[in-house]
Amino acid sequence: MRKIVIAGNWKMYKTQGETLDFLRHFLGQLADTPDGREIVLCAPFTALGALSKSLHGARIRVGAQNIHWLPEGAFTGEISGDMLRELGVRYVIVGHSERRQYFGDTDETVNLRLKAAQKSGLTPILCVGETKSQRDAGETESLIATQIEKGLVDVDQNNLVIAYEPIWAIGTGDTCEAADANQVIGGIRKLLKNPDVTIQYGGSVKPSNVDELMAQPEIDGALVGGASLEPESFARIVNFQ
Ligand code: G3P
Repeated sequence: MRKIVIAGNWKMYKTQGETLDFLRHFLGQLADTPDGREIVLCAPFTALGALSKSLHGARIRVGAQNIHWLPEGAFTGEISGDMLRELGVRYVIVGHSERRQYFGDTDETVNLRLKAAQKSGLTPILCVGETKSQRDAGETESLIATQIEKGLVDVDQNNLVIAYEPIWAIGTGDTCEAADANQVIGGIRKLLKNPDVTIQYGGSVKPSNVDELMAQPEIDGALVGGASLEPESFARIVNFQ
């Protein structure tokens, strides 16, 4: 049985105070959320501790947005897996296209981060996806195969989530057609040793398109940016039909 995981990626949004305010509005809307859906909030580092402390047994897991691959050292601005664990973190996003584009992540460093996350007992969410020009050039499949193959060297596929996030669909309102996303995700699954890995779709997921996306047989959840910042819209997403 593949697990459904709906994760919000807050990126560089929300102070501690705004995080607690979000929770106050969000928690009350989960009464009807079907069992078996894992809800994850990937908050900025500064809000992780407050988020963990305020969950009081609520069915929400805390996630981070980056991890360094070494346990400690002279790496200004970085954070280790054990530091995240101490804050109650269970998931960590690795290889988001914004990290690859602006902060120099490569398939090799992504691989190191994935292994470090698992070593610290975290579940990594590996992001893969193509740009618009790569898609137009028919390179989607081969590019993603490279990201998967290089990223997953020596990674335990029993403690892993993958998110297919076409870069052209991130923050643009321009969602990938549900059938296309399903096809790419089916292709990713064929590359895996463990066919039960949860594979999410991410890229302009919102209340108006979540039902169609989640109805696709290969899609096991969502990684949600903008629409996860607002409690009502994220609650509608986690409560998809
Ligand atoms: O990681 C989630 C993200 O990149 C998608 O963002 O705003 O298009 O839902 P958004």
